Amino acid sequence: MPAELQANASLNALNAFGVNATAAWLAHVQCESDLAPVLADRRVAGWPQLVLGGGTNILFASDFPGLVVRVGIPGLRAAGQTGDSWLFEIGAGMDWHHTVQSLLEAGFGGLENLALIPGTVGAAPIQNIGAYGLEIAERLHSVRAWDCRGQAVVQMDAAECGFGYRDSVFKREYKGSRIVLSVTLALPKRWQPVLGYTELDRELKALSNQTPSAGEIFNAVCAIRRRKLPDPALLGNAGSFFKNPIVTREKRTELISHFPSLVSYALSGGRFKLAAGWLIEACGMKGASRGRAAVYDRQALVLVNRGGATGREILDLASEVQARVAEKFGVVLEPEAVIV
Ligand code: EPU
Repeated sequence: MPAELQANASLNALNAFGVNATAAWLAHVQCESDLAPVLADRRVAGWPQLVLGGGTNILFASDFPGLVVRVGIPGLRAAGQTGDSWLFEIGAGMDWHHTVQSLLEAGFGGLENLALIPGTVGAAPIQNIGAYGLEIAERLHSVRAWDCRGQAVVQMDAAECGFGYRDSVFKREYKGSRIVLSVTLALPKRWQPVLGYTELDRELKALSNQTPSAGEIFNAVCAIRRRKLPDPALLGNAGSFFKNPIVTREKRTELISHFPSLVSYALSGGRFKLAAGWLIEACGMKGASRGRAAVYDRQALVLVNRGGATGREILDLASEVQARVAEKFGVVLEPEAVIV
């Protein structure tokens, strides 16, 4: 059945923060061929558009005055191989974690460090999801997308996606103009564990001193995430609300001289990534609540809806966190979540 347009539709169940919001128009697109007709429907011609996957990285601070397209395109198929990888093409609407799990169960490791990240496969390249030392950029072969300007399906290889830390061309030059239809992942034929992230290594050491298997890494990542990150089904949240800020060597040296326990990681090019969670905690805001919005008490980088918060309340708390961090450290925290 072709996708239908719903007028004045609730987005409450479609965003992981669980805030109340409506869209002027909403369409659930379950198959690729439904997308172009929905976008061309004369009722929504000229209205702003927003593409939604799992709604796990978005904050609706107000209603959306346009068309929300929820992409639910299914599918997982073996798509051949390259010299060193097995390829799998996965529909944009597939759940990310279930995809990681099914591929692992079928004997294909390589995504286990990215277990339990909420959201859909189609959303994964947009912000280049990453955790525990791995980013999807390192496992992505190509993306098929609908190009709204050229009115055609385009195939983009990993280089064309312009990946950076929580960043890609889909957030920049193709923002609003390319809609992901499917993602082809490249999983290594010769699997090697991705280790080196202190907390993961510690968790694995506690299990055994042997080289861990992909399944063991998967379980360890799930255990860490369950301990530190709230389940959106129980407590509304969008994962890390801010990006970890990147600063110059000079700035980091200056900060260390005042705050010797500052947590930072060296990047190539002489710059440093600071742990935003540490900065927020050092401002005394871990666990702080303002009305029904709060800074999560086990990971300060996550903002939560304690029940019934409005998007505005969460945004006000985010602004307070940014102001406090800027005042104490002279560092700007950029939101990682998309704010609408
Ligand atoms: N820290 C604190 N206090 C806190 C939180 C963190 O002091 O409240 C310090 C600790 O020293 C900790 C360090 O910050 O060791 C890093 O914390 P963590 O390992 O939890 O990682 P993160 O930098 O806070 C990033 C990603 C997460 C990802 C983890 C693991 C971003 C914006 N966030 O968080 O991604 O799961 O690393 O790789 O890069 C997400 O994007 O939604 C997300 C959850």
